[in-house]
Amino acid sequence: MKTLWFGAFFSALLLTMVGTGVGLALGTAWGLGVALVLTVLLGLHHLQQLHKLMGWLKGPLDAPVPEGSGIWDKVFIGLHRRVRTRNEQQRALNLALERFRRAAEALPDGVVILSPHRQIEGMNSKAALFLGLNQRTDMGQTITNLLRQPDFSAYLDTGAFDDPLVLRNTRADGASLQIQVVPYAGERQLLLVRDVTKLERLETMRSDFVANVSHELKTPLTVVAGFIETLQDLHGSLSPDQVEHYLSLAHDQSIRMQHLISDLLTLSALETGGSNAEVEPVAVAPLLEAVQADTLALSGGRHRITLEMDGPSHILGATTELRSAFGNLASNAVRYTPEGGSIALRWQKVDGAAGGDGGAAFVVADTGIGIPPQHIPRLTERFYRVDRGRSRESGGTGLGLAIVKHVLTRHQGWLEVESEPGKGSRFTARIPAARLVSAPAPGTARAA
Ligand SMILES: Nc1ncnc2c1ncn2[C@@H]1O[C@H](COP(=O)(O)OP(=O)(O)OP(=O)(O)O)[C@@H](O)[C@H]1O
Ligand SMILES: [Mg+2]
Repeated sequence: MKTLWFGAFFSALLLTMVGTGVGLALGTAWGLGVALVLTVLLGLHHLQQLHKLMGWLKGPLDAPVPEGSGIWDKVFIGLHRRVRTRNEQQRALNLALERFRRAAEALPDGVVILSPHRQIEGMNSKAALFLGLNQRTDMGQTITNLLRQPDFSAYLDTGAFDDPLVLRNTRADGASLQIQVVPYAGERQLLLVRDVTKLERLETMRSDFVANVSHELKTPLTVVAGFIETLQDLHGSLSPDQVEHYLSLAHDQSIRMQHLISDLLTLSALETGGSNAEVEPVAVAPLLEAVQADTLALSGGRHRITLEMDGPSHILGATTELRSAFGNLASNAVRYTPEGGSIALRWQKVDGAAGGDGGAAFVVADTGIGIPPQHIPRLTERFYRVDRGRSRESGGTGLGLAIVKHVLTRHQGWLEVESEPGKGSRFTARIPAARLVSAPAPGTARAA
């Protein structure tokens, strides 16, 4: 500021001195004339600089500040400094905004910013995906016009946002969304949207599972309790044979409960054991011979049971799990094949040219009752049985194939089922090539 005053004072002094000098040398009229001309020139110079300033002010915001001359140089330098500082602040603000935008994009949940009139002021791509909105064209629209769910509008109207709202079947894929409103900055609102489809499905599975287990345990327990009551009431009048009969029936029911609990424990151990089974070379021959022996014992001579082995000598996996899975398939064949039928157990290579990675398969083919096609896709669900009564009679819990599926998945394998009612079934447990070896180093093989 001082320099400005000094500059103005200096110009006036110079002008007066030049005017006075000329006046003294050539006469007063000349002196005044020269002073006047210089004043006009100075005025024109200021006008020209002012014109430059006005031109810059009217121009675009990012136009560079022009250069000035004389005392205007200081003015333009000052302006330039201010513009530079403002640009730097703007850039820092833009960077911070961009960081916030990216953080919002990285959120696993959807976020929508609503104005006091429920207009969309911003949203991340998850919100657009979950709610079926368009991040560009739906901006500024009222959210209740886009999300036409009466429950949603009612929830916004209540103003009580302690508990979230769950909207079911919001989209064509039947997704469930959890919506939570968070009021902020006065009347504004944040809408948090989370896809809870999987959680809801798990919750349904959990409650179905509890209901199934309770139901499965209730039946044998009721029978056992009934027998005990009968024995208590009539024990004086029952013959030893009758007592023996009731005790044996009660014993069968207890075995059934044990069977159920042991299957449940196996399933739970498989589920908590991670997604991969251990990788130990398991010798296939002794494993399948043991399975065949169990099958023969279960059949008690009622079926013709054969075993053929033509596949790789070892599976890289978990012995107990494989034995339980293969044993389950073989025991099903016995239980669902009437007397006189035949059951073929086969371990064979799979032709890689037919698609897939080749590998090998344990096949159990029976000439039993078969399975109607509509039941086949659901066989590996827990507690799923084609004929509940028949399966229960034979001590089945409906957990066997669920265990088989789990075991195979943990070995990166899978189960294939082909069946024709009245003719028989073929269950194929596929083991991928990566889990097979033909002859591991001596000493590493473990018998089943
Ligand atoms: N070889 C088969 N022939 C005909 N039906 C079969 C055969 N294997 C399985 N099933 C049908 O599939 C259902 C499910 O089998 P799964 O092994 O899971 O249960 P389960 O045999 O009833 O009981 P669990 O094996 O737990 O003792 C059976 O109830 C039966 O209806
Ligand atoms: Mg079974």
